Amino acid sequence: MNMIKWQFMLNDAPLELKAGDAFLFLCEKGRITGDVDPVLSERVAEVISQTGEWDGEWVVESGKRAWVQPVFSKPGLNEDECLRVAASEAFAKMTRRHVARVFLPCGGLQSGRLAAVFQGIWHSSYRFDHYKSKPSADVPPELIFVGAAQSAGSRLSATAQELSAIDFARDLINEPGSVLPPLEFISRVQKACEGTSLKVSVRHLAELEKEGFGGLVTVGKGSGHEPAMLTIEYAPDSSGSGARHHLVLVGKGVTFDTGGISLKPGDGMWEMKDDMSGAADVCAAMLAISRLKLPVRVTAIACLAENRPSRTSVLPGDIFTAKNGKTVMVDSTDAEGRLILSDGLCEAAALGATCIVDLATLTGAIVRALGPSITGLFSNDEKLAKGICEIGEEVGEKYWPMPLEMEYRRSFDDSVADMKNIGDREGGAITAGLFLQEFVPEGVRWAHLDIAGPAFVTKPWKYFGKGATGFGIATLVELARRLSKC
Ligand code: BES
Ligand code: ZN
Ligand code: ZN
Repeated sequence: MNMIKWQFMLNDAPLELKAGDAFLFLCEKGRITGDVDPVLSERVAEVISQTGEWDGEWVVESGKRAWVQPVFSKPGLNEDECLRVAASEAFAKMTRRHVARVFLPCGGLQSGRLAAVFQGIWHSSYRFDHYKSKPSADVPPELIFVGAAQSAGSRLSATAQELSAIDFARDLINEPGSVLPPLEFISRVQKACEGTSLKVSVRHLAELEKEGFGGLVTVGKGSGHEPAMLTIEYAPDSSGSGARHHLVLVGKGVTFDTGGISLKPGDGMWEMKDDMSGAADVCAAMLAISRLKLPVRVTAIACLAENRPSRTSVLPGDIFTAKNGKTVMVDSTDAEGRLILSDGLCEAAALGATCIVDLATLTGAIVRALGPSITGLFSNDEKLAKGICEIGEEVGEKYWPMPLEMEYRRSFDDSVADMKNIGDREGGAITAGLFLQEFVPEGVRWAHLDIAGPAFVTKPWKYFGKGATGFGIATLVELARRLSKC
């Protein structure tokens, strides 16, 4: 949830300051953002020129106060990311000081950089605190962008649409597993889609069985909560050049992953409430895309199931038939993500996708390979992979291209069924990707994003507090935007 209230004031709007108000100046390479009050700005400039090493300072002049925040370069973070971090740190400080309204002069910032400032501030003021017996005393100040051009104002409004969609995903991901089984996930998404142009449909267990979605049925059968497939369609009235594309987003939605009969160790198992991040992210991306009215056809498929051991759970050694007719021996019930995604990918193909992107907290192996900040990117199309990496750089989400090494394909050959659901332990993220590829038709561009690292963080990271980050949503929205233009 985000308590943040914000508005922007155009260039010439007069400011009426009250007690409790403060300016925020961001200082990049000795230059400060905006110039709203010449006397104050002059004083700020003076302070900056006098200080050497500093991490921000209050400046008070003729009854007005300002927090001056330096934008430091941080190892591994590009300029926009450094700006997001600096803005978030400044805003957090001002929140702790109980500033009532923050006036952020934005004259000196070009609209993309201004959006970055907004993103940093917004993300860092996100809270998931409704399980606390006492709500947090730190209510964020109202944020007022001043001296904005009209174009910057529209950019900020668009950014806010996207950011509130990201909050929606973060809320779902942070929710405890018992609170959010598949059908509750669905009803929250349905509610969020009310009043939008999105068309939501659900396949319940009976339909999944009838239509042969073997992955979802198999993974979900040990849980008292039924699995389901949620489809969200967005078809703009006029899609112009975007009409050539049908982007289908597929999300892993394991509402809790105990590992099933191949039970996970208890330490840190709680984090597996995040195993539906991919599904939450694709749903959130749909909300943003529809609010922004992007002229391109996009569909999201959320594959939802709870992975839990019980009398009715799938057993290691069991064999099921996947949607594309291939038979799969379940070697580990903990490699469940790829099973439910097989249904999502087949459905994406059936819907006539021209481009498929799946998001999944799929493997621990990718976290060991790339650490917590980077998503593993697997793709059958170099141009798509390059595009996603570029977009990631722009929106502050890091992707690293990984190989779909066919030499490893035989590691999940099986003697009884067509294949088994795990390969060798080494290269586990790659074999998971290869398994998914079995369900992607030739000729359809596809990218698999293994977000197991950055989807959920156990330490504060950049401008994110502990917990869900909504990683991937910004990339998906930008990808849809780019497809709409080519
Ligand atoms: N949901 C997990 C992957 C995961 C691990 C996500 C850590 C986030 C953090 C997935 O379903 C899983 O359990 N994968 C197994 C696969 C193995 C059995 C081949 C894994 O990574 O250990
Ligand atoms: Zn698992
Ligand atoms: Zn999982």
